[in-house]
Amino acid sequence: MSVDLAVRLGPLALRNPIATASGTFGYGLEFEGYVDLGGLGAISVKGLSRRPCHGNPPPRICEVDAGMLNAIGLQNIGIDTFLGERLPLLHAKGATVIANIWGDTEDEYVEVLERIGDDARVAAIELNVSCPNVVKGGMVFGNDPVALAALVKRCRVATKLPLVVKLSPNSGDIVAAARAAVDSGADILSLINTLVGLAIDLERREPKIGFTTGGLSGPAIRPIALRMVWEVRRALPNVPLFGMGGIETVENVLEFLVAGATAVQVGTANFRDPFVSGRLVKELAAWCDRHGVDRVADLVGTLKTRPRPEHTFAKA
Ligand SMILES: Cc1cc2nc3c(=O)[nH]c(=O)nc-3n(C[C@H](O)[C@H](O)[C@H](O)COP(=O)(O)O)c2cc1C
Repeated sequence: MSVDLAVRLGPLALRNPIATASGTFGYGLEFEGYVDLGGLGAISVKGLSRRPCHGNPPPRICEVDAGMLNAIGLQNIGIDTFLGERLPLLHAKGATVIANIWGDTEDEYVEVLERIGDDARVAAIELNVSCPNVVKGGMVFGNDPVALAALVKRCRVATKLPLVVKLSPNSGDIVAAARAAVDSGADILSLINTLVGLAIDLERREPKIGFTTGGLSGPAIRPIALRMVWEVRRALPNVPLFGMGGIETVENVLEFLVAGATAVQVGTANFRDPFVSGRLVKELAAWCDRHGVDRVADLVGTLKTRPRPEHTFAKA
């Protein structure tokens, strides 16, 4: 049986639902020796800004139980070098490129979008409004639905490309953020970014990360990410979602699809095993084949839940 792995997220058609997550896969080209870049569903590149950015001083990553903390601080080569040097090479490899972008102000996001223009080599824009590791920008937008709506409205006007908004798990109400983004023009949502965490070096009584806190990612956050995908899908069933958070195995991919994500992004797992994203594409096809699933898209949002029971008490 040949399995149809193609999925559609609103205006964005992907050859399969396995993408790589921003900040964990460089600009894609670094992984050329490990993964067929043109065989992935998409590559979300490291968050791009109007000018190159150095990020935070080290130490800026550390391993924790079942994951890692990072406070890279959005280091990147800047939009112009990306468009001039990396995008042509990615395009030549047949990669489906998602440009993840960020800014400290609305104007800075818009400036990056204007430089990208309607470049057909970019399949979609992903607005990072949820980075916890910078003093300005990032989460300032993601945690406030009013600020988020204003930003997304301006970005919607500034680009015709499919617009993905990447939500923060650190905001109190992810459904409110999701609604604000969609009502302001987002085509697709991606969730989740990292959760704010703290790791301590006890001997020195110092944080292990120079920025003090860092973003927690990896298997530790998977149940939270799954719950958030399920909640957003339930509230906004017609909005296509990229799900991510701790995906390492094909079973993890399937959990996200069943919870309501149309496609997934693989993040921290790339650091442990640079082959993982390419392998997951093959394993997904094999799993569907074994389970008699002709179209992977048929699995999306198929979670069966039971009504939640009320308390029952013992007789006095
Ligand atoms: C080192 C590192 C850098 C990241 N940089 C970005 C970034 O630039 N933009 C962004 O939207 N998300 C960034 N993220 C968040 C990931 O894309 C992803 O949302 C998160 O790590 C959860 O997925 P995971 O548990 O599979 O890693 C970064 C994550 C890590 C670990």
